[in-house]
Amino acid sequence: MNVQVRPNSPDHSDLPRHCSFDPDDWRILARHWYPVALIRDLDAKGLVGARLLDEPLVVYRVGDEVVVANDICTHRGVPLTMGANKDCLGVRCPYHGLKFGAGGKCIEVPAHPATAIPAKLHLKSYPVQLAYGLVWTCLRPAEGEGATATTATTATTTTAVPPMPHWGEAGYQLINVPAFDIAGFAGRQLEGFLDVAHFAFIHAATFADPDDPVVPNYETKPTATGFEAEYWSSISNYPNGVPDPSPEGFQWLRHFHCHLPFSATLTVHFPEGKRLVILNAASPVSARQTRLFCPIARNFDTDRPVEEVHEFNLRVFAEDAEMVEQQKPENLPLDPRMEAHIPADRSSINYRRGLRDLGLSHFFIA
Ligand code: FES
Ligand SMILES: [Fe+2]
Repeated sequence: MNVQVRPNSPDHSDLPRHCSFDPDDWRILARHWYPVALIRDLDAKGLVGARLLDEPLVVYRVGDEVVVANDICTHRGVPLTMGANKDCLGVRCPYHGLKFGAGGKCIEVPAHPATAIPAKLHLKSYPVQLAYGLVWTCLRPAEGEGATATTATTATTTTAVPPMPHWGEAGYQLINVPAFDIAGFAGRQLEGFLDVAHFAFIHAATFADPDDPVVPNYETKPTATGFEAEYWSSISNYPNGVPDPSPEGFQWLRHFHCHLPFSATLTVHFPEGKRLVILNAASPVSARQTRLFCPIARNFDTDRPVEEVHEFNLRVFAEDAEMVEQQKPENLPLDPRMEAHIPADRSSINYRRGLRDLGLSHFFIA
C-alpha cells in the first residue's frame, strides 16, 4: 500500500511531505545510515542534491566540513540545490541570497547585514560520516549518534555504517562506481544482490555461465547487524570474454555479509589470494526509487583503469534493474506465505526475517 501522508496531519508532522512509506516503517528506516552522495561529485561542484526516504536533501562543503541539510530554504522554501557554493564557504540561496554555512547555520542575510541572525533561519541538518568515498547520513539518529564528522575516514569503527573488508588496506585499489538509479524498492534490489540463483539467467552476457544454473547448498550465520553467507560454486567471476586463468575445478567462494536494512558486502575469493570486495549500498530514495552506491576494493589488476570496472558493473546493475523494476508487489513481502521459495533462497529468507525483526511491517506486507 502506498501511504500518502498529508503534510499537516497532526500525527505525522515529523515525516517528509508526500511520504511513500507507512509512517511506523519510515521511523524505523530513518534510524539507519545511508549513503547520499559520492565525495568526488561533491568536490567537483561544492554542492549536490539527494533524496533519502522521501526527504529532499542538500549536501554541501564548508571547508573540511560536509553538511547534509533539508533542501528547503527556511526563508521562502526555495530548494538550496538551485543555489551555489562557489567558494565552499557556504551555500547561497538563489532567491534572496541567504547564505548557510557549517552545521546548516544561516550566516548571511544580505537585506539586513547589520542585524543579528535569528536561529529560526538555520537549516535542519543531519549527522554526517564520510566512508568509502561516500557521504553517509541518518535522518533520525539515536542518542549519541548526532555528532558531525568533518574528515574523511578510510574505515569506521561505528556499527552505523557497514564495515567494508580490505578498504584502505595496502595493495588494494579503491574504486567507486558512479551512482546508479533504479525505479524500484531498495529491499528488492538488495535481495537481488544476495540472490545467487539468477546468475545463469540474468548475467550470462557479463560473467555467468548459462549452462551452469545449479545452486549448491550453502549455509548462513546470523551476525549483529544481519547475517553472513558463504557460497561455494564453480561460477567464475571473470567477465565473459576475459581469459579465465583459474585452475581446472576451482571452487569460487562468494562471502556475503548482509547489513540491515539495505547494504551488503560481497567478498569474492579468486585463485592465489586475489580478492574483490563489493559494497552494495542501496539508498532508499523513496518506496519506489533507489540510488545504488557501489564502492569496490581489489588487490589485483590494480593498475588497470577504473573505467573498465565502472563500465562492467554498470552493465551488471542494468541486468539486475530490469528485473527489480518489474517485480510485483513493488515492495518486499515479509510474510513468508506471500511468495514461493526454493532452497537457493536461504539468504533471501534470512534477509526478510531480518527486516521483520527490525519491526518493519505494514508497508512491506501490504
Ligand atoms: S527563499 Fe531563500 S533566501 Fe528567500
Ligand atoms: Fe544480479
